[in-house]
Amino acid sequence: TRTPVTVTVTGAAGQIGYALLFRIASGALLGPDVPVKLRLLEIPQAVKAAEGTAMELDDCAFPLLSGVEIFDDAKKAFAGTNVALLVGARPRTKGMERGDLLEANGGIFKPQGEAINAGAADDVKILVVGNPANTNALIAQQHAPDVPAERFTAMTRLDHNRAIAQVAKKAGVAVTDIKKLTIWGNHSATQYPDLFHAEIAGKNAAETVNDRDWLENDFIPTVAKRGAAIIEARGASSAASAASAAIDHVHTWVNGTADGDWTSMAVVSDGSYGVPEGLISSFPVTTKDGKWEIVQGLEIDEFSRGRIDASVAELSEERDAVRKLGLV
Ligand code: NAI
Repeated sequence: TRTPVTVTVTGAAGQIGYALLFRIASGALLGPDVPVKLRLLEIPQAVKAAEGTAMELDDCAFPLLSGVEIFDDAKKAFAGTNVALLVGARPRTKGMERGDLLEANGGIFKPQGEAINAGAADDVKILVVGNPANTNALIAQQHAPDVPAERFTAMTRLDHNRAIAQVAKKAGVAVTDIKKLTIWGNHSATQYPDLFHAEIAGKNAAETVNDRDWLENDFIPTVAKRGAAIIEARGASSAASAASAAIDHVHTWVNGTADGDWTSMAVVSDGSYGVPEGLISSFPVTTKDGKWEIVQGLEIDEFSRGRIDASVAELSEERDAVRKLGLV
């Protein structure tokens, strides 16, 4: 039998945590033959709730789950971890300015970056889900100088999956017919879901749909504002779909993208497509043997250029704001 992979989940008692932990324990994160050890990190007030979830995990008798530990100390929670899912974050509350939000999250992601730096396993892979995800990932990464920067990623897979679902519905095809979709930029309302490089059943997606009005005025805003639409309908933010996307992100990273396809991940920019080096921005990426690569050589027309630049400008502003706060 294989040695278990240690997976740390922060915000474990939250709504995404509740949807995520059972799927990790069932083998969906890494594969059906990989045993996992779960480490849950919560704030002290939520440890009891995390213990309740751990009781339920026990009660599932998952064959692949080789243990659950609960912590309120980041150093302990990340010691020896192979996969770190940073879900817990400070939500924006009424009257909170963006600067306050970034600062409050800096207070979470700086010490977590330091803890990962101090004690995570050499092969650690980090996915930041907690918002503002790209900039939280940047803060953590900047405080983990001994961890290769490419191990820090932020989640745009939910946006990617949402976009696939919308195109499949529009074209009347299966989601599996949609390939090479890209989310560019920030996980925010400025994100750019790109159909110009995507394919529907092997043909160019934008040409196949052939409905520019829908693409610009329906598809893009529907994907970008889907989070708000879910809150409006459910009375709570996306949780199961976010958890499912987190599973997909790590599964793809570890197990690879299929030939002829790619995925969307927010990763540290090397300057590709004019995105300033060091920003954690979403790109089309392929993965193989646990490593990602940005897809190179795509032709970017004026429309796409404008959309990418707008979202990347927002990321630069967020980086400037956390710089001013001394967080990066
Ligand atoms: P939630 O409020 O239900 O749960 C968050 C949990 O994090 C709480 O249990 C809280 O106690 C915990 N927490 C807070 N600070 C912590 C710390 N320092 N260490 C450990 N745990 C801590 O929120 P929910 O719905 O689970 O969402 C979590 C985050 O994911 C939010 O920031 C949300 O905006 C974000 N999100 C991101 C998406 C994406 O696509 N990137 C999609 C959906 C949500």
